[in-house]
Amino acid sequence: MEKRRLGQNGLEVSALGLGCMGLSYGYGPAIERGAAIDLLRSAYEQGVTFFDTAEAYGPFENEDLLGEALAPFREDVVIATKFGFRNGEVAQGMDSHPARIRQVAEEALKRLRTDTIDLFYQHRVDPDVPMEDVAGAVKELIWEGKVRHFGLSEAGAGSIRKAHAVQPVTALQSEYSLWWREPEKEILPLLEELGIGFVPFSPLGKGFLTGAITPETVFGKDDFRSSVPRFAAEAVAANQALVEALKALAVEMDATPAQIALAWLMARKPWITPIPGTTKPARLTENLGAATQHLSSGALARIEAALQHIDVVGERYPAHLRERTGR
Ligand SMILES: NC(=O)c1ccc[n+]([C@@H]2O[C@H](COP(=O)([O-])OP(=O)(O)OC[C@H]3O[C@@H](n4cnc5c(N)ncnc54)[C@H](OP(=O)(O)O)[C@@H]3O)[C@@H](O)[C@H]2O)c1
Repeated sequence: MEKRRLGQNGLEVSALGLGCMGLSYGYGPAIERGAAIDLLRSAYEQGVTFFDTAEAYGPFENEDLLGEALAPFREDVVIATKFGFRNGEVAQGMDSHPARIRQVAEEALKRLRTDTIDLFYQHRVDPDVPMEDVAGAVKELIWEGKVRHFGLSEAGAGSIRKAHAVQPVTALQSEYSLWWREPEKEILPLLEELGIGFVPFSPLGKGFLTGAITPETVFGKDDFRSSVPRFAAEAVAANQALVEALKALAVEMDATPAQIALAWLMARKPWITPIPGTTKPARLTENLGAATQHLSSGALARIEAALQHIDVVGERYPAHLRERTGR
């Protein structure tokens, strides 16, 4: 698979990465460990060298899973993980105190069965810890060789600048897709200015953009989408217009809606590397097919024209999680 470079310090990754969260957490029960290991190894065999996890996924389980699955080819892959929640639990709120960052790194290294974390993101900005202290803590870990690159997730422009002044930021990971284009306003120009790479999460709109979700879809209590306004039945019904437009474009472009959604992101900038997630081997292969779908400027203009009058209904996060973003 084609490679892309994130940031200014030589981090090279496959043009599409694999988001591993859903294997353990977020969208219902974890999948069986053997099947998850097979999926991760199959991704590598199909050219993926960029794997995304976090302490909070499980918590802890997902890192441990990646540690086992990727051990045979550890030297050939980039593993990104994240710190920043108290005790690793999203529900407990943020904790990016320097001592805690160090503890998360030490524990992640063991679970990941490695001696260095390739990319260590702060999962959410912690309003109680100055960004300079967070960046300083990661800088020390980099000096010690325990971490190679620093990243942020859903950080606002001011935080990105502050962090970058202390320790160059290699990548920002935030939501970005055909149904969440907010980063285009302020964040993408800033990243371009500072030479920071961008890793869009939920590039398939948490599954919505693939066309697999309808107003009849029922999300279990342990599926995060059951709490997201954009996935309430009325919003899903209203947003089918977007899916219908994508399906028509996909037919025209001899691709699937998922592939259009991913190829569109990759066409935005050469320093953008999406990390779609799936638990299913056939969908993995389908999604990775987007890496060879190079959209022409004509195709990009068609997509823009087809979607520009479709307004997306519903917030992307419930209020208490929305307020953690963009700080
Ligand atoms: N930094 C952050 O705060 C943050 C937040 C969220 C996610 N992330 C990272 O980003 C990664 C990806 O985001 P995401 O998992 O939220 O969303 P996503 O990649 O947009 O979508 C994943 C969902 O789409 C479904 N799906 C995938 N491919 C499909 C296909 N070809 N056809 C139909 N359905 C398909 C998956 O279901 P199946 O499993 O059933 O295929 C899953 O429910 C995560 O794994 C995680 O690593 C980071």
